[in-house]
Amino acid sequence: MERGIEKVLVTEEEVKSAVALLGEEITSYYAQQEQLDLVVIGLLRGSFVFMADLVRQVKLPLIVDFMTVSSYGDGTVSTGDVKVVMDLDQSIEGKDVLMVEDIIDTGKTFNKVLYLIKNRHPRSLKICTFLSKPSRRVVEVPIDFCGMEISDEFVCGYGLDYSQKYRNLPYVGVLKPDLLA
Ligand code: IMP
Ligand code: MG
Repeated sequence: MERGIEKVLVTEEEVKSAVALLGEEITSYYAQQEQLDLVVIGLLRGSFVFMADLVRQVKLPLIVDFMTVSSYGDGTVSTGDVKVVMDLDQSIEGKDVLMVEDIIDTGKTFNKVLYLIKNRHPRSLKICTFLSKPSRRVVEVPIDFCGMEISDEFVCGYGLDYSQKYRNLPYVGVLKPDLLA
């Protein structure tokens, strides 16, 4: 195991099957729609690994775009103030938008992003997150597709970072507590 990781929470195999399942769910949901203009939007940087795997499991025509928002605050706490660091490349007006996030924790960040996205008038808006920590929620987020719910532990890997590191781990792990201190 990688240095600094205390235990593996979601193995590489479990990640794979969770993503395959999400892909099926998303495909069958949108396949029912008569008209479809699907734009999958990933929030950088955390979602990049999940996004790459997920879109390959969605068996429908789609385009991808990315947005970087930064929440003010330090390593592990979200303050809920977000600023757009890199915006989308294209207009999403009248499009079917699927937002993709790595993890929804307090919900503060995503809530702000949703507000921004809604103001651009997509035809439909759905939310997909790989991980969710329901016990930590401060602001309600209407999640449509969720890979798995986890308890209140700080995790990294599969795109998720601690101080920008560990994003490349193929599994989701829990950091050793002394690193977080
Ligand atoms: P929220 O505003 O509290 O929902 O924070 C969401 C963001 O915080 C996510 O997009 C992650 O970047 C980060 N985050 C929350 N929990 C974790 C975690 O356990 N590991 C790594 N990043 C996390
Ligand atoms: Mg993030």
